[in-house]
Formats: sequence, C-alpha cells, structure tokens
Amino acid sequence: MQDNDKQYLQEQQYKTPDNYQTRLTLIDCADEKIDIWAWRARPFNFSNTKDILEIGCGPGHLWESAQKKLTATQRLVLTDFSNGMLEAARANLASFKLPCSVQFENVDMENLTYAAASFDAVIAQFVIYHASSPQQALNEIKRVLKPTGWTSIVTIPVCAFHDFLKLAHEIDNRIPPHSISALFSEEKADAMLPEFFTRIEKETCSIKVTCTEPTPILNYIRAYPTVQKLALPEEFYAEYEKRIKILFQKNGVLKSEFGMTSYMCYSS
Ligand SMILES: C[S@@+](CC[C@H](N)C(=O)[O-])C[C@H]1O[C@@H](n2cnc3c(N)ncnc32)[C@H](O)[C@@H]1O
Repeated sequence: MQDNDKQYLQEQQYKTPDNYQTRLTLIDCADEKIDIWAWRARPFNFSNTKDILEIGCGPGHLWESAQKKLTATQRLVLTDFSNGMLEAARANLASFKLPCSVQFENVDMENLTYAAASFDAVIAQFVIYHASSPQQALNEIKRVLKPTGWTSIVTIPVCAFHDFLKLAHEIDNRIPPHSISALFSEEKADAMLPEFFTRIEKETCSIKVTCTEPTPILNYIRAYPTVQKLALPEEFYAEYEKRIKILFQKNGVLKSEFGMTSYMCYSS
C-alpha cells in the first residue's frame, strides 16, 4: 500500500489519538528512559518570536514541555487535519495553562490557509512523512515563514522498529518492512532540507528498546498505519503473535531501535 493514503490517515488512523498513543507506548520499553517531548522542545527559543504555527499538532503533548518557554506576547496556532486530534489538543492544552493565546484550526499541511511570511516559527514534528508530497509541505512551510523565522522539523529513520515490521512483512508482503517515515525519513530530510533552508542544525537521538513480553509489540503492530489500513483478518495477528512468542522463547527478550532526528532550520 501507499505509505501516505491521506484519506485513511485522516478518517481512520488519526480520527482519534488512540492509535498514536498506542504506538508511543513501545517507547516506554526504552533501555534508557527519555522524555521525548522535552528532547524535541529543547532547541526552541521564542525570544523575538510572536506568531508560532504548529502543523500536525496531534494531541498537543509537545506543549507540556514547551509551555515554560512561552510568554504572554506569543500567539500559538495549532493545526491538524483531524478534528479528533484538535479536540484532544484543546483538552490537553487547557490543563497546561499556557500564558499566551492559542488557536486550534483544521488545516492540511500541504495547503496552509495562511498568508505568506505570517509566522516567526513553524513546528512540524513527526508529520511531514505523511504528506503526499513532502516537497509541497516544505514549500508551504517556507511560504508562511518570515525570512527571519525558524522551523523545527523532527522525523524518524526509515529503519525505525524495523525488526517488528519485518516480521509483519514476512507474513504479508503488502506490509512494507520499512517505517512510515519512508517519504521523509532522516535520510530523505538530509537530502531535501538544504534546498529550502540556508542553515540547518541537526541532532539525533537513538532509542534502543528491550521488550520483555509480547503485548507492546502486538499493540504497536495493530495500531501501525500500513498494517491497520489493510484490515487484515485475525489469522494474521494470530500468526504474528505465534512468531513473536517463538522469538521470546528463543531469546528471552526482543530488542529493536527507534530514533528521532531534529532539524532547526533557518533562512537567514
Ligand atoms: C504521528 S502524529 C504526530 C503528532 C504530533 N506532531 C507529535 O509529534 O506528537 C501525526 C499527526 O499529523 C497529522 N497529519 C497527518 N497528515 C496531515 C496533513 N496532511 N495535514 C495536517 N495534519 C496531518 C495527523 O492527524 C496526526 O495528528
């Protein structure tokens, strides 16, 4: 299947935050505990920044960590193409008590409904790989960003959790063995971003996981976009579980690796 079936992503995978939340729980098996939101918010500097746009905000978790960097002078616009995600973000941000004004808007990242040069910062984390055309998403980010502004982009490597996806691919070869980030993985971002920005600061964070029981892996596979989209019969999941259990019997634990790559991008 296509990695970027927009209708499926909007109407099923991201209709509510549930699938994303489930997938994130696999990171709880990390060998070294990490606050992924704090890591992603760490490079933000909002001094001289008034208008901030986040695209594909999801449930808005990032702002629990980033809120202490905001002041009353900023205006935050959180956007997503899923109303369910926007509702969750609205509820979460209400509990964070941000100091600045916040708007929630249903906007597609490939067709931003904002004037050129209208934002000082654009944040796009774990989202550009879902675009039908990452090039178009980057064109839009560049268009709405002021020339003095900055963009924070975070993506994942194409081999993220490869071990678990490969096993699914071996049972049904319509499931790609690579991560959903394939269209805008770390490797692709490295090649594309210099076409759009003159200065790029890159940081990577490798997350090694060790699972001691099958449940987090089985839940991850059930919630994974390229698996879930196929609406597979229960026989597929039973076979996956059987193979996972054999590997646990053989090895005691199962290991894999995830990763995050952060790019702070500037045009001046
Ligand atoms: C993997 S989640 C990431 C959410 C959030 N950025 C984070 O890092 O936690 C991807 C989000 O992007 C949204 N999304 C995917 N394609 C989109 C598009 N074309 N336009 C706007 N939002 C999109 C989804 O609805 C979902 O909320």
